[in-house]
Amino acid sequence: MNTNFIYSAPTKVYFGENQLENLGSELKRYGNRVLMTYGGGSIKKNNLYDKIVAELIKAGLEVYEFGGIEPNPRHTSVNQGAAICKEKKIDVLLAVGGGSTIDATKAIGAAAFYDGDCWDLVTHKAPITACLPIVTVLTIAATGSEMDCGGVISNLETNDKLGLIHPLMLPKVSFLDPTNTYSVSAFQTACGGVDIISHIIDTAYFSTQDTLYMVDYFMEGLIKTVIKYAPVVIKEPDNYEARANLMWASSWALNGFIGAGKQQAPSCHMMEHELSAFYDITHGLGLAILTPRWMEYILDETTAPKFYQFGVNVFGIDKDLPAMEVGKKAIEMLSDFFFNTLGLKSTLTEIGIDDSKFERMAKKACGNGIMPGFKPLNQQDVENILKMSL
Ligand code: NZQ
Ligand code: ZN
Repeated sequence: MNTNFIYSAPTKVYFGENQLENLGSELKRYGNRVLMTYGGGSIKKNNLYDKIVAELIKAGLEVYEFGGIEPNPRHTSVNQGAAICKEKKIDVLLAVGGGSTIDATKAIGAAAFYDGDCWDLVTHKAPITACLPIVTVLTIAATGSEMDCGGVISNLETNDKLGLIHPLMLPKVSFLDPTNTYSVSAFQTACGGVDIISHIIDTAYFSTQDTLYMVDYFMEGLIKTVIKYAPVVIKEPDNYEARANLMWASSWALNGFIGAGKQQAPSCHMMEHELSAFYDITHGLGLAILTPRWMEYILDETTAPKFYQFGVNVFGIDKDLPAMEVGKKAIEMLSDFFFNTLGLKSTLTEIGIDDSKFERMAKKACGNGIMPGFKPLNQQDVENILKMSL
């Protein structure tokens, strides 16, 4: 068994209610000139904006704003944010929002040190050499961006949605107050729940590499946490216990702990990013539609043992059944959770996607070669999975 790895997740987390009183002092550690970034306005509707601005004023910080960051954030917005950083000589970035706002802010922080289009950094034409310090106030449980060093940026001109990863982009501090997620809609809550589960399934659980029992067991616990609490939150949006469990699960699903030592090759994420790039759909919705089809496609005698473990430990399926049967039942139960319990649409057709761009998507997803993963996929495999999802 080879379990060598380096693990480092130094983001400082303030978890729970009434922690914003620490925001001013944390920001001041990095300077006085703050650029506050946010999305399409949800933080103004739920009063979080006012609370934060009050803290920043109290701390005597010089505050600039950049709002309007889109879901599936665009490289054009990143360029605008970076221009403000340069012009106003910003010391520290404060991202208030979900994965889109935080991801864009990471790219803004890096692009602030680059004279050119941020897309060069995303496409590795130019290296990331520095990044402004980033503090986040998370408002939706989903991506784990609050505790990881990655971001995903979209370019509508080229239909690309690409990840950029750099240790310098890791948030220094993240404020995780579950009450800030009370206003998240049932749909976005469901999509966030799927994303959390997918980060576990896609990046670390279904893996051919050596794994530690304790990490597998931890991942099963995280998945069960989402299965237990996401439906609660959909019925009771202000259930603190449920929101808190989802929020902390989102961070731990992608903060490096479960994936330590593994080469992560997230097949469903690679395919979903193509869907989002061409059709601008919500990330978690695309994952919900793709994941059960991917599972169905790769389930065979060689992969069945992992599906057996998943089915027995997560869904409590009878351990005396044959592995293939447990695998099939597990896929059915996961689909039932996504489409019936969480109420998400179950096909690409229902969300207005047809097969006209599948060939291009598959080619891009495979980078003209093989997409690595639990089961390596070629272009035809990806096209087949997309067709199964129609
Ligand atoms: O923009 P606002 O008005 O804030 O509204 C947002 C947006 O419409 C809304 N929302 C967020 N918090 C809310 C709220 N509405 C009411 N109350 C609140 N408290 O929810 C909508 C979605 O927000 P978004 O930030 O897009 O959601 P999410 O956190 O799911 O982020 C998705 C993005 O992250 C990327 C995805 O690809 C997608 O672009 N990912 C980032 C990853 C990472 N950094 O590691 C990994 C993921 O796999 C993922 O790819
Ligand atoms: Zn994701």
